[in-house]
Amino acid sequence: MIEKARESWTSRLGFILAAAGSAVGLGNIWRFPYVAGMNGGSAFIVVYFFIALVVGLSIMVAEFTLGRYTKLSAVGAFKSISKRWTFAGFLGFLTAFIIMGFYPVVGGWTLAYAFKSVTGLLRNAETLRDAFGKFITSPVEPIFWLALFLAFNVIIVARGISKGIELANKILMPSLLLLLLAIGLRSWTLPGASGGLEFLFKPDFSKINGNVLLAALGQAFFSLSLGMGCMITYGSYLKKEENIPASAFVVTAMDTLIAILAGLVIFPAVFAFGVEPATGPGLVFIVVPQVFAKLGVFGPLFSLLFFLALFVAALTSSISLLEVAAAYFIDQKGWNRKKAVLVSSAIMFFMSILSSLSLGVLSGFTILGVGFFDLFDLLSDKVFLTVGGLLVAIFVTWVVKKENIHMEVTNNGTVKFPFALWYNLVKYVIPVLIGIITVTGIISAHQ
Ligand code: PHE
Repeated sequence: MIEKARESWTSRLGFILAAAGSAVGLGNIWRFPYVAGMNGGSAFIVVYFFIALVVGLSIMVAEFTLGRYTKLSAVGAFKSISKRWTFAGFLGFLTAFIIMGFYPVVGGWTLAYAFKSVTGLLRNAETLRDAFGKFITSPVEPIFWLALFLAFNVIIVARGISKGIELANKILMPSLLLLLLAIGLRSWTLPGASGGLEFLFKPDFSKINGNVLLAALGQAFFSLSLGMGCMITYGSYLKKEENIPASAFVVTAMDTLIAILAGLVIFPAVFAFGVEPATGPGLVFIVVPQVFAKLGVFGPLFSLLFFLALFVAALTSSISLLEVAAAYFIDQKGWNRKKAVLVSSAIMFFMSILSSLSLGVLSGFTILGVGFFDLFDLLSDKVFLTVGGLLVAIFVTWVVKKENIHMEVTNNGTVKFPFALWYNLVKYVIPVLIGIITVTGIISAHQ
């Protein structure tokens, strides 16, 4: 089955598109601005940049290399080299469920907001905040939309990776970029917008503590789809002649640029409309419609396009998550693809319903002090992805033979790449860095 999926990427760049499609998602446009907002703004962003380019890029190279070397998806990649390491792949499989325990909820919001954009949402800019709160806390409506969002995933992944999604990526990712720029222009010219630019570009390094570092590390792994086997799986579909370091660089650069662009679009508007930067998960859903509401007759159209593009960005990420879960059942349990996809998505549906309800009727029910939505979010980026990233770094440099990794990542010595630098970073520096950040993060969370 994995072989089949490998065949279905039609162009040589299909891989870059798939990997970028997985990376660029809600993490960039929905999550990055609000996490930055909750962690003090520009100081967080400086740290994020550093972590994405040093830690993220290196781990992405490691994941692609491991995937292509073993030609197997997450669990098999570890298991085929060392049986004792099967758990590391299995952890990735579990993480796919945890992320898909809340991702479809937000995916559903994007669909709902696309629909609402043209059915009167923007009529009253003053009530957008309350409208969002009312919508996400309602017991039925968001569940309808999340079911619809998941249905798209099921259709695509059940059929294998179709030409449709490759094409959709080719058309909709550039249009997402254009839309962001267009909204940016509007946002930057609003009176009061400069507060947003200051918030983004005047780093106050006294704001950095262990918590901020851990948030940046988790956000980098989340946004780059690292630490849970997704890029291992996608790397396993990669042709031998393809340049791994260059591909990883392109994907990381695209992902980081889109996150920054999203911040540049959102924060000027946040300050112009006097929204609190630390608003949390509602930020994009409250601020962006506010910008569009002031755009006259074209407002609803732009708003529709924005949320549709956000939906597509989310979809190309969530199918990679569903694929990781389904690939496990197909590879390790010998299930057929349909059954694997249906069972995986049924579990995800159930978890997402709990998440959605935790924002409303179930808000009184908490685990470790938070509801399901926050719990799945917290567990994925602050715990599972960081541990997963750490395990990949250790596995690739301490368990797999150095010579094999060298040959794989440099295409038998033909690709120019500072191998020693990367190898030592991944072997010594990154594990220590992840360890320190995690410990300081936990300590400062308890202060
Ligand atoms: N990178 C995706 C995003 O930014 C989320 C994701 C995480 C996808 C992990 C796959 C694996 O939205």
